[in-house]
Amino acid sequence: MRVLGVETSCDETGIAVYDTEHGLRAHALHTQAALHQDYGGVVPELASRDHVLRLLPLVDEVLAQARMTRRDVDGIAYTEGPGLIGALLTGATLAKTLAWTLDIPALGVHHLEGHLLAPLLEDPPPAFPFVALIVSGGHSLLMDVAGIGRYTLLGDTLDDAAGEAFDKTAKLLGLGYPGGPALARLAESGDPKAFRFARPLTDRPTLDFSFSGLKTQVLLAAQKAGPERHADVAAGFQAAVVDTLVWKCLRALDQSGRARLVVAGGVGANLRLRAELQAGAARRGAAVYFPRPAFCTDNGAMIALAGALRLAAGEREDACIRATPRRDLATLTPP
Ligand code: KG4
Ligand code: ZN
Repeated sequence: MRVLGVETSCDETGIAVYDTEHGLRAHALHTQAALHQDYGGVVPELASRDHVLRLLPLVDEVLAQARMTRRDVDGIAYTEGPGLIGALLTGATLAKTLAWTLDIPALGVHHLEGHLLAPLLEDPPPAFPFVALIVSGGHSLLMDVAGIGRYTLLGDTLDDAAGEAFDKTAKLLGLGYPGGPALARLAESGDPKAFRFARPLTDRPTLDFSFSGLKTQVLLAAQKAGPERHADVAAGFQAAVVDTLVWKCLRALDQSGRARLVVAGGVGANLRLRAELQAGAARRGAAVYFPRPAFCTDNGAMIALAGALRLAAGEREDACIRATPRRDLATLTPP
């Protein structure tokens, strides 16, 4: 099956074609970062309007890249949620109407299922079962994954998501929006031991996360130290988040008895996190799987893949156009 994937949950328009026999055929992404920069965050109405403008040209671009026409598409997968309601509706409407005109099925995909299956786009793909760490701008989750649609929540964020903590900390260091990657770059030139920030909730057996308190510690340290030491502050913050995530992942592997760890979501692109997880898991004889950095952040390929696996297994839905801004991953069922 050749499945067109459509991702519009937030501020990137992502389109891709995934072929269940030959793998990923083509993908393209339009990021709205420049559009929202002046506002310090995503403006939902601007995001929706931009998706409307970008969607069809990107579909044409991806089909041309894959040397296909619309008639060669066997199914369409779109992000149904979670995400911004207006942004979700643009992708859902495109997917459902295009599928209607082509007389092919369209299927809504859970955005986080897309993230957690993204490592299956790589070679070698992880085998089920595994533990998944999803760390994005909106979520920090540890899930036990027995198979597609067989998800058990192990740990959740009590306040800020990991990516949100990166973005908010970047903002208070004057690094703009979205600040996560900029903060990670600044941290490279700092000393991670110069400031010692707390590793939240690592002194308790829970697999939940809490990152909001760190921000305050960083703010106080940054004010006291002055701008010339911001690189050290950034390095100290990044080390605290990474240590906390690594500690929780290793504990989740121990508790679940799984031998494989999958890392996904935007913060999965963080180089220090990738290195430390690799080292920590190796010490326990466990394997870690990451998507390439471009498939850690939002993209159409992960939605095409997740939808293709479900469509190929025979899953279908009616022609209603659906967008679900809040959606619990653990309520999903196998195809
Ligand atoms: O998965 P994603 O693209 O969007 C959501 O579904 O939320 O994740 C975006 C998040 C942002 O908070 C961004 O700052 C963070 O991922 N991020 C990073 C890095 N690259 C992206 N955080 C830390 N280090 C990075 N290299
Ligand atoms: Zn995402």
